[in-house]
Formats: sequence, C-alpha cells, structure tokens
Amino acid sequence: MDYLLEIIDLNTLPPAQDILSQREQAFYATLKLPKRKNEWLGGRIALKKLISTQTDLPACQIEVLPQPDNGKPLLLLSGKKSALPFSITHSHGYAVAAVSPTSKYIGIDLEKVAPRIEAWKQDFFHPSELTADGDKFLTALWTKKEAVVKMLGTGLTLNSFDIRCVGGNVHFFGRAQEIYTALGAPFITLTTSELIPGFQFSVADGK
Ligand SMILES: CC(C)(COP(=O)(O)OP(=O)(O)OC[C@H]1O[C@@H](n2cnc3c(N)ncnc32)[C@H](O)[C@@H]1OP(=O)(O)O)[C@@H](O)C(=O)NCCC(=O)NCCS
Repeated sequence: MDYLLEIIDLNTLPPAQDILSQREQAFYATLKLPKRKNEWLGGRIALKKLISTQTDLPACQIEVLPQPDNGKPLLLLSGKKSALPFSITHSHGYAVAAVSPTSKYIGIDLEKVAPRIEAWKQDFFHPSELTADGDKFLTALWTKKEAVVKMLGTGLTLNSFDIRCVGGNVHFFGRAQEIYTALGAPFITLTTSELIPGFQFSVADGK
C-alpha cells in the first residue's frame, strides 16, 4: 500500500478557526447545513493531519480550496499549488483523507452499507458490472465507481455507464475514455475494504 489514510470521527472535531486558513474560513462560513459544515471541516482535518506529519507545515498553511466548477479541490501548501495526489470522502459520521506521494492520481470513496433499490441499480451500473447482488456488493461497486471518478477529477459529471468496474478492473468508454487517455492512461489499482465496520471503502490508485 503506497498511500496514507487518516480517518476522522466527525463527532469530535476541534474548532474550525484552529484548523482552517482565512480563505477556507471564508468558504466555511458560506456553508449553511451543520452536517455539511462538519463534513467539510472533517475532511480538511484528516488531510491536514496527513500532510503536516510529512511536511511539518502548520494546518493553516495547508489549504484545500473548492473549485467553482465542482471540480477536484485545489491543494495549496504555503500558498503554492501542490501536485501531491490526495482525495477526501465523508459518510455517516466519518471523514477520510488519502495522500499518495508515489502515485499520479488517487481517488477514495466511503459509503455505509445500506439498502439499494432496483431502479438505482439499473440507473448507475452497466449489466457487465453486476456480477453479484446484495447491499454490500452494490455499495462496494458504488464506492469503486466514485473512487475512479474522483481519481479522474471529474466526479459524476460523466455518464456512469462509461466507467465500468468489474472486480478490480476498470474499463472506460466514451468521454471517460478520453479523459483517462488525456491523463496519460495511468495503471489503476482498485481495492475495496471494510475500513470501518458496516462501511465499504474503495481506493483508485493511478500510477
Ligand atoms: C465528487 C462526487 C463523486 C463526490 O461524491 P459523494 O459521495 O457525494 O461525496 P464524498 O463525501 O465521497 O466526496 C466528497 C469530496 O470529494 C471531493 N471532490 C469533489 N469533487 C471532486 C472531483 N471532481 N474530483 C475529485 N474529488 C472531488 C471533495 O473533496 C469533496 O469533499 P469536500 O467538498 O468536503 O471537500 C460527487 O459529489 C460528484 O459527482 N460531484 C460532481 C457532480 C456535481 O457536482 N453534482 C451536483 C450535485 S447533483
């Protein structure tokens, strides 16, 4: 495993002003929902913990700024854009961050195992991906797909059928294939685990 993970319990967060930079605090103040504020802060705490142990930078000099187009957030270290691959996810009381200094790209996704209805299954998964059934399998499959679209930096702005996860393999089609090729067609290691009991967690590590 080449990447580092940090898990944060969202019930026990320090005050935002102890963690966030001025720019981050300005964005944080615009978030209305307490749950969203907590998740946004928790993800940043997780990432800042990982990076500060590697760089000795204080939390306020590690900034994760959202992009206006809903794209991948921007990481700034001491005000300078960083190319360090990172990813953030949150779900049901937890935030997780990952960094991978040896990768080109990384995407992670955490989801609580929950009942999934048939229509959702048909909407998001190509038949070739549905090699099994059940809430755990479908939740895991969802985390794989989200980890991959975060690795690509697009999020789910792509047609979901254009990213097909079969076991540990990912197959791209259409626009997803174009974006993957433009990124240099990295070799993707896609792994899924029960990082937290009752959850599924996937990492798409692109080298
Ligand atoms: C990115 C996306 C896949 C996140 O999935 P999710 O299960 O909702 O949320 P997660 O908790 O797993 O991940 C959220 C984190 O992903 C990261 N992220 C957001 N957009 C990203 C992108 N394009 N690429 C990589 N990472 C992204 C952010 O760090 C975000 O956390 P933050 O806002 O607190 O910083 C999803 O929100 C998406 O597809 N967004 C793009 C489409 C869109 O904006 N739709 C509007 C709502 S319909």
